[in-house]
Amino acid sequence: MTYPIRIPGASVTLREFTRDDVDDVLAIIGDDKVTASLSFDSRNRDQAVAMLEGAIERAQQEPRTEFYLGVTKRDDDSVIGFARIGLSGVQAGKLGYAIAAKEWGRGYATDAARTLVTYAFKERGLHRVTAAIGPDNVASIAVVQQLGFTREGTLRDHVFTNGAWRDSVLFSVLAHEWSW
Ligand SMILES: CC(C)(COP(=O)(O)OP(=O)(O)OC[C@H]1O[C@@H](n2cnc3c(N)ncnc32)[C@H](O)[C@@H]1OP(=O)(O)O)[C@@H](O)C(=O)NCCC(=O)NCCS
Repeated sequence: MTYPIRIPGASVTLREFTRDDVDDVLAIIGDDKVTASLSFDSRNRDQAVAMLEGAIERAQQEPRTEFYLGVTKRDDDSVIGFARIGLSGVQAGKLGYAIAAKEWGRGYATDAARTLVTYAFKERGLHRVTAAIGPDNVASIAVVQQLGFTREGTLRDHVFTNGAWRDSVLFSVLAHEWSW
């Protein structure tokens, strides 16, 4: 049983969501500045509650199908973002993350992604982690490039979001390449 998970990083902690996180989560997934780069449109409060309840329920399934965790600062339990690896294929996972706009530019996404991918490789035996990122999302591309991901190519019309089809650039890293 791997519930609940709590993983300390350098500047953030990753932890399971609780129902008390609704307001913090809404400040992330209800903000067009954040969701403009995600694969879904902004969510309202009811949708944020549903998202949380789904994540909490899936977190307690055995075996787990995803590691969908809240990002907090090390010294404060409020959720300022999320990081997720969804398991897919053989020892493979898909990485995603977002940080509340008021906390951008402080290294939290890089630390959250580094912490979760390290957990996936070292504790969960994954072999390959991918991240599909919008071609214009320079901040997110900077995150994976700093962590040593390799650019594989373009996924054409990969997501339908904010009223239009959007390509993604696919990045990956393999367990033996992970140096963190
Ligand atoms: C992408 C995102 C998660 C980055 O979060 P963050 O906590 O600000 O990221 P970091 O502080 O770790 O910064 C990562 C790098 O991006 C760079 N960066 C941040 N914002 C930038 C911007 N607007 N333009 C260019 N570079 C930017 C930073 O300088 C940093 O690189 P550096 O360390 O070499 O300076 C955040 O912008 C976000 O939530 N965006 C909306 C959701 C999203 O795009 N999620 C990813 C989907 S694939």
